[in-house]
Amino acid sequence: MKKILVTGGLGYIGSHTVVELQNAGFEVIIIDNLSNSTLEVLDGIITITGVSPTFAKLDLRNKADVSKFFKKHTSIDGIIHFAASKAVGESVENPLLYYENNLHTLIYLLQESKAHHINNFIFSSSCTVYGEPDSLPITENAPVKVATSPYGNTKQISEEIIADTCAVTEMKSIALRYFNPIGAHHSTQIGELPVGVPQNLVPFITQTAANLREQLMVFGNDYNTDDGTCVRDYIHVVDLAKAHVIALKRLLNDQNTDAFEIFNVGTGRGSSVMEVINAFEKVTNQSLNYKIVDRRPGDVEAVFADTEKANKELGWKSEKTMEDALASAWKWEKKVRKI
Ligand code: NAD
Ligand code: WQD
Repeated sequence: MKKILVTGGLGYIGSHTVVELQNAGFEVIIIDNLSNSTLEVLDGIITITGVSPTFAKLDLRNKADVSKFFKKHTSIDGIIHFAASKAVGESVENPLLYYENNLHTLIYLLQESKAHHINNFIFSSSCTVYGEPDSLPITENAPVKVATSPYGNTKQISEEIIADTCAVTEMKSIALRYFNPIGAHHSTQIGELPVGVPQNLVPFITQTAANLREQLMVFGNDYNTDDGTCVRDYIHVVDLAKAHVIALKRLLNDQNTDAFEIFNVGTGRGSSVMEVINAFEKVTNQSLNYKIVDRRPGDVEAVFADTEKANKELGWKSEKTMEDALASAWKWEKKVRKI
């Protein structure tokens, strides 16, 4: 049985990926410092899979602890590195926190990977590296634009750090550039649990419908899109989780063509904010309280993935619809709020 280290494995995307890894027969070790997650997520994973992953509560910023961890846990076959801070606005206010948490942790992990000959490394990147695209859908060859936030910059720098490492070591790596993950596991055992006021659209929608927020603000309807609201590529988190299992197998089976590969992970479909709201109202059979307000500074007008590379080379395709994802997000919100 292959042993996989999942950092940030109790977080939103990490927890769904741990489920898919265990369902696929991998042995999983999770590192998480619980800075943006709770131990209840571990219970959810165990309930879904019937398997208890090893869990190490550890802060990856602590180099000595990271080193100790790798001395204790030997024979790791691969690493999926989710652990990071991810709030764009917070990164503007506190850039050093983001550079430390997203870059130091990566460097320590890569150093240990090198020392212990762990040569398979999957990294959580983001479509944020593309900035405002020149053309749509966006391919992996599109230029990486000057980052508009320290968070986005950490993803760009991380990709460069990994590429440089792969060039001079035995390491093989895949960076998955996620588009907009939404939804929850159909079991409602795990899902997205933002701390404080949600910054992202779908958790804000579900919290508004659950009466935790009074009203959803739609940030601008004067964009150059069909209905004037911004367009994104919303991908079901379970589809995204499955992409990690496929990418991991590609590395473990030496099917990668380059030491460092990049894949877009999206649906290939763009949906506007109004389309998301309308779909949510339809699947939940209720009307949402929203109003149009000014644009949010820094928002990109439209971005959605060209998924041909992931489809053809990785052999991965999203399967679930946005309606599935919205229904699961609502089911999860209702469970959490005991509605
Ligand atoms: P999340 O915050 O839910 O999960 C991250 C997990 O990492 C949390 O459980 C947190 O406690 C842990 N963590 C953070 N810093 C740590 C540290 N120093 N040591 C140990 N554990 C630490 O986030 P997510 O949405 O699951 O995102 C996972 C990854 O995917 C991140 O790298 C994020 O930047 C990237 N990503 C997310 C999105 C998105 O919209 N959610 C989009 C693109 C990329
Ligand atoms: C989606 C759309 C908003 C909230 C962010 C990060 C990106 C990536 C994914 C990590 C936009 C609109 C939102 C609200 C709204 N994360 N909106 N009212 O901005 O595409 O991407 O998450 O890598 O880096 O920037 O996602 O969910 O915030 O917004 O109208 O209350 O919904 O304007 O058009 P975004 P989002």
